[in-house]
Amino acid sequence: MTAALAVAVLVGSPGAASASKDPYAAAERRAAAPCPQPLPPAVPPSPSECGAPSPGAAGLGDPYFEGAGNGGYDVAHYDVALAYAGAGTGSVDATVTVTATATQDLSAFDLDFRGPQITAVAVDGREARHRRAGRELVILPAAPIRAGRTFRVAVRYAGRPEPVGDRTLGSYGWVPSRDGAVVASEPDGASTWLPVNDHPRDKATYAFHITVPKDLRAVANGRPGPVRTGGATATYEWAEDAPMASYLATVAIGRFQVRRTEVAGVPVITAVDPAFRSAAKGLETTTVKVMKWAAPLFGPYPFATAGGIVDDPKLGYALETQERPIYGGFAPDEGFIVHEMAHQWFGDSVGLRVWSDIWLNEGFATYAEWLWRERTGKDSAAKIFKRYYAQPASSPIFSPPPGAPGAAKMFGFSVYVRGAMTLQALRDRVGDRAFFTILRTWTAQHRHSTATTQQFTALAERVSGQGLTPLFQAWLRSETKPLSW
Ligand code: ARG
Ligand code: ZN
Repeated sequence: MTAALAVAVLVGSPGAASASKDPYAAAERRAAAPCPQPLPPAVPPSPSECGAPSPGAAGLGDPYFEGAGNGGYDVAHYDVALAYAGAGTGSVDATVTVTATATQDLSAFDLDFRGPQITAVAVDGREARHRRAGRELVILPAAPIRAGRTFRVAVRYAGRPEPVGDRTLGSYGWVPSRDGAVVASEPDGASTWLPVNDHPRDKATYAFHITVPKDLRAVANGRPGPVRTGGATATYEWAEDAPMASYLATVAIGRFQVRRTEVAGVPVITAVDPAFRSAAKGLETTTVKVMKWAAPLFGPYPFATAGGIVDDPKLGYALETQERPIYGGFAPDEGFIVHEMAHQWFGDSVGLRVWSDIWLNEGFATYAEWLWRERTGKDSAAKIFKRYYAQPASSPIFSPPPGAPGAAKMFGFSVYVRGAMTLQALRDRVGDRAFFTILRTWTAQHRHSTATTQQFTALAERVSGQGLTPLFQAWLRSETKPLSW
């Protein structure tokens, strides 16, 4: 789902998105613009854009992840039917059905996929030719797909998915655990286990049907459905009904202690690996406390359910997987839980349109930790800011600038710390009233959608009535430690 694209199509005007500085807007306008009607022979339409159907682009052009995502269609829904054989082989047998709408006349299109062996691909029920090229799965439907048509792609595959191993990012994607597996895909690991349009700007809903050996369980995003048992297996249903970025999709398979409670009618479901049994109660109570605390500050909790998953792989990080964050191999302290819960508003509901805006996720979630410490009155975000500000200009908390960290440092200290400092600098400038109005307007305006830094700075200027370009320039973009703001 892409709101801007939907608007452009509805309005029917290729100029609808032209005010935006968004690097994707031009490509979208091109995709959304209707082909010209037959013209006088002197001005033939460009054959690459009109006339013959053409292949969708192999990437969305994100500067940090060139091949991530694909052009020519927009996904609405993933149906994931996956059977897991057990920790012995670690293998899966899966059929993923992708429902998408073409945004151009398509002769072929790609999905991102680096999972195991594909055994069949069908488009609208008809077998389709396909080939794999690196991380791309190229699909050639039996007949071209016209722009505006909704189509279904079913991909069946089997084997043992492998995680990505990265020197800075660690292990991510489908990660084997002692008794099963757990998925944590940020930034581009969803394709380790799913054929997917793997870019945060194409949110979609998900249905999971996960079959596991009877002694195991499967937990995923969203709302649980009935558990069906048959012979030696059990099938767990989960549904994520709010639009979700692919990197936030998760499944955790294994033995878990599951607890259920609720906050204001929102079910809170936590699942904790037996190795972290003693953390189970604390995860639940802190998650509940944070939800109650956050709503007045950030706006209503944005999803139908909440919770958390603690599993055993020593990932060394947590991930804000939608409705149910993953804590990878440690018992999370309050700060971690506050951080991942804050991401439900900042990162999950209000998602990224480009990866280079990652501070919109990490700076905000880190600032939420500071606000949490402020709530008791013993510390304050302003004091925490001052302690960081006292560090030397050469400290990694200051560089690279969080507004343009580069792919290699997108999860570096500066994105988290200087990103959060940016928000404190903004709060100091505009005052508490305007600052928290900005936060709540942000989460309301872009709820279940995506947004950009430029939209945030414009909103901050509008709400505060102040010119804030120098402040954001100094904090987000300047190569040096900001001197004044
Ligand atoms: N978003 C996560 C957090 O808030 C970080 C994920 C980093 N990804 C990785 N593969 N290490 O902490
Ligand atoms: Zn984070």
